[in-house]
Amino acid sequence: MRRKIIAGNWKMNKDHREGAILAKEIADGFAASRSSCEVVLFPPFTTLPAVMEAIRGSAVRAGAQDIYCEDEGAFTGEISGRMIRALGCTHVLVGHSERRHVIGEGGELLARKLRASLRNGLKPVFCVGELLEDREAARAFEVVTAQVRECCEGLEAEEFSRVVLAYEPVWAIGTGKTATTRDASDMHGIIRMLVKELFGTAAAERVPILYGGSVKPESAPDLLGDAEIDGLLVGGASLKSKSFLDIIPR
Ligand code: 13P
Repeated sequence: MRRKIIAGNWKMNKDHREGAILAKEIADGFAASRSSCEVVLFPPFTTLPAVMEAIRGSAVRAGAQDIYCEDEGAFTGEISGRMIRALGCTHVLVGHSERRHVIGEGGELLARKLRASLRNGLKPVFCVGELLEDREAARAFEVVTAQVRECCEGLEAEEFSRVVLAYEPVWAIGTGKTATTRDASDMHGIIRMLVKELFGTAAAERVPILYGGSVKPESAPDLLGDAEIDGLLVGGASLKSKSFLDIIPR
């Protein structure tokens, strides 16, 4: 059985003071819950050092929301995998829908970011998801599998063994509309079939596939009860310790 992963993407919320308080509340609550899940927080870059300090000695892990594809040099404003790793981070988000659709990052850049994460010993949580128009045109499977293929194809099996996938339908992010467990489960099954084709049966059985998009404490148990859904990537509901802790199963 794959261990469930509950991740909180804070997006552009919580400065380093607010973030330290939230992370401490989550670390304390998580320890008290004796849950066997893996919990990962994704605060903004400037909040990360305070969060690392707040979760020190706890089982909670943290990562960055983005990474640049080079490790150092003249890239004004960018942050490298080496810098993220130096903070003690274990994970990094790559290809979040807001990076793809608001900032305009494309597959070629994301493939390089994925490789930069792996090169620097970070576990990438690689996000994919279709737009509403894709779903309405019955293209969702095609779009999502193309996103996985374009960035993951060509990785060594050992490299792919450190990748976490996250399915986040764009129409469900921040809209209050959660995909049904059935829709999410079907998509996860399709993604797993592609992983089997690219990396073999063992990789397909191992790869964690998270669901994200308007997850709330009320919708989490049903989603997590599905064998294809290995965890949740939570946005809005991860900004309060109570709602985030309520999502984490015991
Ligand atoms: P919401 O949970 O706010 O819809 O955000 C989901 C998300 O984008 C997590 O990465």
